[in-house]
Amino acid sequence: MAIFRGTEENIKKAAKHLQKNNLVAFATETVYGLGANALSAEACEKIFKAKKRPKYDPLIVHIAEMYQVTDLVQEVPKVASDLAEAFWPGPITIVFKKTDLVPELITAGLDTVAIRMPAHPLALALLSEAKIPVAAPSANPFGYLSPTTAEHVDSQLGEEVDIILDGGECDWGIESTIVDCTSGEAIILRQGAISAEDIRRITGSVQYGKAVLERPLAPGQLASHYAPNTKLVILKKDENPGFAQSVKIGFLQMGKGTIEADEVEVLSEQDDDFKSIAHNLFSALHRLDSLGLDIIYVYELTGNDLAAAIMDRLLKAAAKRS
Ligand code: TXA
Ligand code: MG
Repeated sequence: MAIFRGTEENIKKAAKHLQKNNLVAFATETVYGLGANALSAEACEKIFKAKKRPKYDPLIVHIAEMYQVTDLVQEVPKVASDLAEAFWPGPITIVFKKTDLVPELITAGLDTVAIRMPAHPLALALLSEAKIPVAAPSANPFGYLSPTTAEHVDSQLGEEVDIILDGGECDWGIESTIVDCTSGEAIILRQGAISAEDIRRITGSVQYGKAVLERPLAPGQLASHYAPNTKLVILKKDENPGFAQSVKIGFLQMGKGTIEADEVEVLSEQDDDFKSIAHNLFSALHRLDSLGLDIIYVYELTGNDLAAAIMDRLLKAAAKRS
């Protein structure tokens, strides 16, 4: 069992592992991360190996203090410093032009680096103690559901990591918003915990761009992501699925509306309580995915930016694997 409580002693132990270029999984306020020394290509190589992650998918670098950005980036555009000031520590990742200090492996050969200062006290304590920037993707096998508890990490990657620092259930349950600031404008590459509206309030305007995995270099390679092994089907608002007796059905329920199913996970009491839905989504999918069901249904959701971020995860989870 690789799960350790977030005591001072265990944080110190985990920080030493990072300094020795070993892997440490840790809680953040979004999802659990699989961390390694970001200044060492050798250490980061272990992340790609453990996750079976393709080398064209770059990693996010995590820091505890603002000054750590300086060595990693060529410049800090005003939009970037405004966003960092407004939302760090917190669930926003900012893309900068990188320096040579950042190994190419981390950035998949791009000339940019994605950086985030997480808000979870355990993550911050670990990063402060380690005193090095820490590359950390979500701590799941590539393409599978993101982990929102230490147990999720243990069951998927327990063999691969030296320590899993348990910080309880992740508050947000959905990944950080990624914003490219290299052009001097805020361009959202991945919707997430911080809304476009929140960003617009700080930067005045916001645009949308393509995430790395959706760029032409890797055509169609990655329709499916954040995905359970069980088939996930998104229903239109008033759609009623036909039932075959022999089929075992799971249902992700939001609010009161329900369908006849063998296993139901209630994500929220109200159908527009998107914070609860995000918080519970991956945990519920992990549970349903362990039950040997034939199919999982969920109704499409519409609403604010967080609803759109959740819908983005659902669409990727439901996409056919190639
Ligand atoms: O909330 C989060 O962001 C979590 C926690 C652990 O911090 N991390 C996370 O990492 O979601 P991951 O690897 O699952 O997603 C990182 C994504 C990559 O798929 C890539 O699209 C984007 O970040 N990314 C990394 N570096 C980039 C760069 N230089 N330019 C554009 N996108 C980048
Ligand atoms: Mg991920």
